[in-house]
Amino acid sequence: MNHAESLNILKRVLQDTQTLVIVGGQFGDEGKGKFVSLLALPFDWIVRFSGGANAGHTFYVDGVELKTHLIPSGIGQPGKTNVIARGVFFSLSSFIDEFFKITNQLKSVGRKPSQILIDRLCPLFTPYHLLLEAYLEAIKGAEKIGTTGKAIAPLEALRKLRISPVVDDLFSQERLHRAMTELSRALEPIIKELLTMPQGQDFKQPSLSEVCGQYLKEANLLRLLGQDKRVQIIDTSLALWEAYRQGKTILCEGAQAIGLDPYWGTYPFVSAGNSVAAGASLGTGLPPQTCSTSILVFKTVPTRVGAGPFVSEYWERQAAEEFALATPHLFEQGKARSRFLREKLERINNGLASKAEFSQYFQVLGFDRGATTKRGRSTGCLDLQWLRYAIRINGPRWLAFGGLDKYSGLKQIPVVTGYSLDGRVLGPREMPLTRELYRVEPVVTYLPGWNEDIIGARSEEELPTNACVFITWLEQALEVPLLLIGTGPEHDHLIVRT
Ligand code: IMP
Repeated sequence: MNHAESLNILKRVLQDTQTLVIVGGQFGDEGKGKFVSLLALPFDWIVRFSGGANAGHTFYVDGVELKTHLIPSGIGQPGKTNVIARGVFFSLSSFIDEFFKITNQLKSVGRKPSQILIDRLCPLFTPYHLLLEAYLEAIKGAEKIGTTGKAIAPLEALRKLRISPVVDDLFSQERLHRAMTELSRALEPIIKELLTMPQGQDFKQPSLSEVCGQYLKEANLLRLLGQDKRVQIIDTSLALWEAYRQGKTILCEGAQAIGLDPYWGTYPFVSAGNSVAAGASLGTGLPPQTCSTSILVFKTVPTRVGAGPFVSEYWERQAAEEFALATPHLFEQGKARSRFLREKLERINNGLASKAEFSQYFQVLGFDRGATTKRGRSTGCLDLQWLRYAIRINGPRWLAFGGLDKYSGLKQIPVVTGYSLDGRVLGPREMPLTRELYRVEPVVTYLPGWNEDIIGARSEEELPTNACVFITWLEQALEVPLLLIGTGPEHDHLIVRT
């Protein structure tokens, strides 16, 4: 089956779906972009409803890989309307950098960016938010969250304290100055203290007039982009509502995942955007019943970065992060990498591998390390207790998972099927407190693996029997239809199921 045929199947499956919400089912980095690249094709409007510059989204246009933080994945498709809705934390400088970068990348494949609408009430990132985040991380010390440094939680918290500048303030010198003054006064004692701390050594007190001047300059650039209606700052909830009423189809792309959601994730080791399906309605202003169909994305080898519990994790977080830093050669194609993977797989299959070796094997196999930091992402095994919880909270119509190919060569596939806490096996949809998750003993089941290389498989007929058995077993265990299955690293390495 080729890509066009996969798309046709998908269109048939989605023919009655006017609005679809895509959310992450684990701790972020599930590879949502691969599925979004295909799912976005039949939709008219592509909307970001949560997250901000903390999220990295990778998607594909004509097979070319594009990376954005804020800009929706419809940007490379003509005729699409892309929306940065009110639930998004807006960084003006990130947006401008991204816009010009993506315009150049699209030019190289003969395309232009499609239209972008930005909500006028998105909270606006400022250097003050950054200082607040640095202070909060500093006072937490060893218990720090390990944020991405984009001040996402301060943006949300200060919005709730009614003291955050918003995008609309960019268009009046007076409003911007007032909002920045309020913010700097409110945070003054905190900033002063931060600057006396060792963690504050790299920061300095921002100059109010310089900050305002810089923002007004960048706002002018936004205005220029708005002249030919390429970028518009409006009430996106109204535009979305009108589009919905006219029968346009709308894809809402989630950022992060339930594990990082401030209400439903592993609080306090969470981000601040509403990353569960309910966040689509809150973040876009579309009524809940109009965006109630969702698809939950997960991967066969989940990963976690930053701090926080991860029950099915193979190894210690820090050790996993440092392993990738110490062995960059294993993350490049070549003989050393192939030999390493072969030797580790043999030890795993002979029952000789330690937990550290499991972790290293999957980390290297999946190139699981940060693109900029090169720190490893700690890996774990598929956790059905967690996914059943994610399904309970999100209520997805379908599931999509990536990385079926990562099981190839394993004699047995380990899967966490339940949790035991202090000697009690938990109910199938129970989720313990964050502090209890550190004590949970996972109940592990092993499924038969397969030897065949399945990279790039496009239909179930191309899969070995045990891979099909695994898919059916997983679908029955999770009680939600599996619509999309990733079978390799390329954007079109996937199976669309009917
Ligand atoms: P923040 O979003 O920068 O506040 O970070 C809070 C936590 O969420 C940290 O542990 C981050 O590592 C994690 N996090 C935030 N965004 C992502 C993401 O896109 N993928 C994976 N982890 C993320």
